[in-house]
Amino acid sequence: MPTEELQRPHIIDIPEEQQGAVYEAIGHPTATKRFYIESYGCAMNFSDSEIVASILGTDGYSATSDIYEADLVLVNTCSIREKAEDTVRKRLEYFNSIKRTNKGMIVGVLGCMAERLKKSLLEQEKLVDMVVGPDAYRDLPKLISNLSSGDKQINVLLSREETYADISPVRLESNGVTAYISIMRGCDNMCSFCVVPYTRGRERSRDAHTIVKEAQDLFDKGYKEVTLLGQNVDSYKWLDTSKNSVVTFANLLAMVAEVDPLLRVRFSTSHPKDIDDEVLYTIAKYHNICKYIHLPVQSGSSRILELMNRSYDADWYRSKIDRIYEIIPECSISCDIITGFCSETEEDHQESLAMIDYAGYILSYMFSYSERPGTPAARKLTDDISLEVKNRRLSEVIERQRILSGQLNKKDEGKNFEVLIEGLSKKSDKQMRGKTSHNKVVIFDVHPEYKIGDYANVYITSSTTATLFGTIIQ
Ligand code: 5AD
Ligand code: SF4
Repeated sequence: MPTEELQRPHIIDIPEEQQGAVYEAIGHPTATKRFYIESYGCAMNFSDSEIVASILGTDGYSATSDIYEADLVLVNTCSIREKAEDTVRKRLEYFNSIKRTNKGMIVGVLGCMAERLKKSLLEQEKLVDMVVGPDAYRDLPKLISNLSSGDKQINVLLSREETYADISPVRLESNGVTAYISIMRGCDNMCSFCVVPYTRGRERSRDAHTIVKEAQDLFDKGYKEVTLLGQNVDSYKWLDTSKNSVVTFANLLAMVAEVDPLLRVRFSTSHPKDIDDEVLYTIAKYHNICKYIHLPVQSGSSRILELMNRSYDADWYRSKIDRIYEIIPECSISCDIITGFCSETEEDHQESLAMIDYAGYILSYMFSYSERPGTPAARKLTDDISLEVKNRRLSEVIERQRILSGQLNKKDEGKNFEVLIEGLSKKSDKQMRGKTSHNKVVIFDVHPEYKIGDYANVYITSSTTATLFGTIIQ
């Protein structure tokens, strides 16, 4: 598997080709102005851009995919690794080159970089007109209007309450089959390497009824799969004051699964310390909750896990893996791993490699450690592993996972899977592309009786390290 396929943005599997995706034009009957938005990083950012599109829609804007006709250009940014920020800076320079000929165009930075760099994006880097943090999107119409005074605008206030619960996202770049639903915001975990608690603030859960309603609305519009999103979905907790009872993540999963048996439910990301038996039994109980768990390990070494402040050790993680397979034998698991974290030895690295085999991950998202200013690791630990060693270990982890993914895919040959058809194959319009419940991509020939959004029973005939190939059987 090439590195690019495995270099994952935050939280969830955003295909590389959608990174920085330019959204299709979306008509709005009363719209007089156009906005253009690019999103980088995690699924949460892509989901947030859909909230932003909704807020701008009420302010007379509609989306365009042509930057040259845009009155407002927005970039929704990621700070998780230095490389992600470098990419955005290059894009901002490009936007500014366009602005030289289109003076009225507004350039705004949204998301994690806005929150992390705050005023310095306006003052030192001078690349933007407006800086808006992840909890301040409702303020966009006011900030845009204030720009007419000639002053640059900023709102990076983090909130303890904001969940955008009442906002109905405008689906951008949609395939009409799968959609994200944001169920919570922020993170309280404080993993020592991670900038997210500082850029997205404290954890808060969204009103469960609005989540179920959003899932129902999507299903009514023909969508067949929703992915419930949060930095740490298993710690979802919402107090239903009308019943004076708490809705847990397991309860929420069941509520969404009951919208309709034909609506698949996925979720991401799980934290090993929070995913409990109640969640596992709920996944096992409902056919339409996908048998797939993304369970970042970060390292296979207990010593490094302690330095990372992950609140579990390697044995504890292994027992969680055992428990998942015990309760949901057909479940597939994937993970995130960081190589070259502060003080990582060759023995620590070997333990990460061994964890890949133990857990039997179908895929991993693998990263070399990138120190982020202001995080506990940056303040208290030394980033002492050379780039060369970090990268060599990263290639070893990638290679180990590549071999395992190939072996696991081979085992699926000769089996039948229920596949949700998501679209045409990227390589040929004579073939279709879909996913199994356990999150494997399947390619098969177009069949006259099956269309995008249908479920098909597919017999797997061959595989590569990244893909299964098969034929529809009726
Ligand atoms: N350096 C490298 N990878 C990181 N991640 C988070 N912070 C960093 C960092 N500073 C990875 C973790 C996380 C995933 C989304 O990104 O593996 O689970
Ligand atoms: Fe970052 Fe850890 Fe929270 Fe994930 S759980 S967002 S890695 S602090």
